[in-house]
Amino acid sequence: MVSSEVYPYAKVGGLADVVPNLSRELYRQGHEVIILMPRYYQIDRLLLERHPAPLSVHLGEEEYWTGLYHQTMTDSHVEVYFLEHEQLYGREGIYGPPSGGDFSDNPIRFALLSKAAFQVCRLLGWYPDIIHSHDWPSALTATYLARQEHSGEFLHTRSVFTIHNIGYQGRFPEELIHGLGFGTEEAEHLGLIFQGELNFLRSALVNAHKISTVSPHYAQEILSPGAGFGMEDILNSRGKDVRGILNGMDYDTWNPAADQNLPYPYDVAELANKALNKNFVQQEAGMEISARPPLVGMVSRLVDQKGFDILLGPDGSNLDRICRELDLQLIILGTGDPAIEKSLRQAGDRYNNLRVYIRYNEKMSHIIQGASDFFLMPSRYEPCGLTQMYALRYGSLPVVSRTGGLADTVVDIDENPSEGTGIILESPMSEDALYGALKRSVQLWQQQRSIYEAAQRRGMHLRFDWKHSADAYGEMYAQD
Ligand code: ADP
Ligand code: GLC
Repeated sequence: MVSSEVYPYAKVGGLADVVPNLSRELYRQGHEVIILMPRYYQIDRLLLERHPAPLSVHLGEEEYWTGLYHQTMTDSHVEVYFLEHEQLYGREGIYGPPSGGDFSDNPIRFALLSKAAFQVCRLLGWYPDIIHSHDWPSALTATYLARQEHSGEFLHTRSVFTIHNIGYQGRFPEELIHGLGFGTEEAEHLGLIFQGELNFLRSALVNAHKISTVSPHYAQEILSPGAGFGMEDILNSRGKDVRGILNGMDYDTWNPAADQNLPYPYDVAELANKALNKNFVQQEAGMEISARPPLVGMVSRLVDQKGFDILLGPDGSNLDRICRELDLQLIILGTGDPAIEKSLRQAGDRYNNLRVYIRYNEKMSHIIQGASDFFLMPSRYEPCGLTQMYALRYGSLPVVSRTGGLADTVVDIDENPSEGTGIILESPMSEDALYGALKRSVQLWQQQRSIYEAAQRRGMHLRFDWKHSADAYGEMYAQD
């Protein structure tokens, strides 16, 4: 597994949760798995073991001398390897500095990671059947393998590439090509040059033996213009090589009965404690302490993908009417686009029933799930989404748009009263659809509590376990 994010070492989004959980389950099923990621600045070297031999990786004319550290994952024998290069990874931030934006040398930083995967295998004398990479940062792994697949030690190695988000493609100026070790003609041939620029993700879609994405619905959606972000043609041409495998979620970390982050742990049988978590949050947030208004939670990257432009509406007008007209409380935790952060913060200053926390905080993310009655996720697109699964487990009814993994994991309570687990926004997504779904949430909470509770219990009993997903990956690995 080659990945730019692995929890708990480095995390921006759900990718970081998926890679270690999938690896752990694959290992449990009898696969030998190792993970490779960069040793970012914030990962303490003193806690890791150093591999004695240095590693030389060639990219074009340049030779990069790297170091290698490793550590065994907790609860598993999976070994995580960390690629060390002071100049490229020895600074704060994963894709960019804490102040925002991307590092300008990201093409080299992540090409090095992808290329180093082969050197690490050589160093360990361990030649895998499958080299599995994730999203644009490790996409070039499939490309480097394609270049050498007809000879050498990796003759029997196959590549699998998983799309976690097709909206981020790793697009860079074409002139950088030589620094990555490709000639122009070769790069054209490998599909790395697309519409006059380098496109890391596309080259994996051209070269990987198999391609997956993180939900069946999203696998269908990305075949169409718009949702495919320009990749629909290549994906359509890959036919049966592309499949959707729903992510699992980690039921050990996200278990409301044993969650150390919650002031009052609870489970289906003792839901009264959930109400105490709500009171706790209301008090901490300085909001009215009352069971009457439903508490709606959001934990998210603050970007347009997640529907914040729709939540806000022009000049914040949609959020204004939500806070003014609906008897609910809304609590938002997230970081991301500075413009969204600013608009949310300003709205938070205006309304007593809105609290906005601009920060990344694991503990708070658990408490919000534990305290809220509804969990809002009006994504414009959502490859899988993990937070709505956490919400289901925590008895917080998801209010979601009908897209990608959200459509695969949430059943609308009005469309299917006997199996409903949440509320799905009317399509097409709009400010009114979002307002309407929140209005419906308030009504459900205040006037139809028994319907609410039945849906809540169904959601808490659902299991999106990793075993199912790992079985499907195992099947894909075994295909020709
Ligand atoms: P995405 O990967 O698109 O961001 P997912 O729902 O798959 O969306 O995963 C998001 C992950 O990041 C979840 O584990 C969620 O709890 C976590 N997360 C997002 N924002 C924050 C935040 N501000 N603080 C803590 N955790 C966060
Ligand atoms: C991406 C997607 C999200 C998915 C996650 C893990 O970040 O945006 O929907 O759950 O990857 O696969």
